[in-house]
Amino acid sequence: MVEFGVRQLRPSELPLFREHLLRLDASSRRDRFNGPAGDAFLSAYAERCFRDGTSVIGYLEYGRLLGAAEIHEFPGAEAPTGEIAFSVEHQAQHRGVGSALFARLIEIARLYGYSRLLVTTHPQNEAMKRLARRFDARLSFAEGETVGTIELPPLESELPRRLAMA
Ligand SMILES: CC(C)(COP(=O)(O)OP(=O)(O)OC[C@H]1O[C@@H](n2cnc3c(N)ncnc32)[C@H](O)[C@@H]1OP(=O)(O)O)[C@@H](O)C(=O)NCCC(=O)NCCS
Repeated sequence: MVEFGVRQLRPSELPLFREHLLRLDASSRRDRFNGPAGDAFLSAYAERCFRDGTSVIGYLEYGRLLGAAEIHEFPGAEAPTGEIAFSVEHQAQHRGVGSALFARLIEIARLYGYSRLLVTTHPQNEAMKRLARRFDARLSFAEGETVGTIELPPLESELPRRLAMA
């Protein structure tokens, strides 16, 4: 089946995610993980995501996963908070894939009831800073890291009419 577009990955699609991460070049790996990331680390990371309930959203082209975004729960925060991250393979960058993943990720985060999302990168990562700004992320810099915060307004109440009137 030829498949194009952005969607959430199914549990059986761990191999697609792992292969995508393993194809990232050294500079994308450094930008994504804030440091060098070897193959063993990336394989273990992919497995952990599929084990611990992380939502993984993918951009697929001809059945290959060329971009991904993850939402991890950030436990212990006062408000329900998710930590998000992005990776787009070099040949697919600068074509709007990161923006499409970000838009879908926000929809999914709202369905989970997150009211705040955090994204961390290093201060020289211009692509990520521009992407975050496009989605109104507030960016702050501290100790060599850039942390972006996105506040998500709550979903409109979808209570059945009789409950809302009670
Ligand atoms: C950051 C990243 C996800 C952006 O993905 P993308 O598919 O290239 O993003 P888009 O094409 O939607 O572009 C988004 C914005 O980034 C800008 N951008 C993309 N690549 C850029 C680059 N190399 N340098 C500067 N700006 C860049 C675009 O111009 C656009 O800005 P605009 O909204 O002001 O026009 C991608 O570069 C990537 O995977 N990098 C490696 C991993 C990483 O840095 N992850 C983020 C940390 S979690």
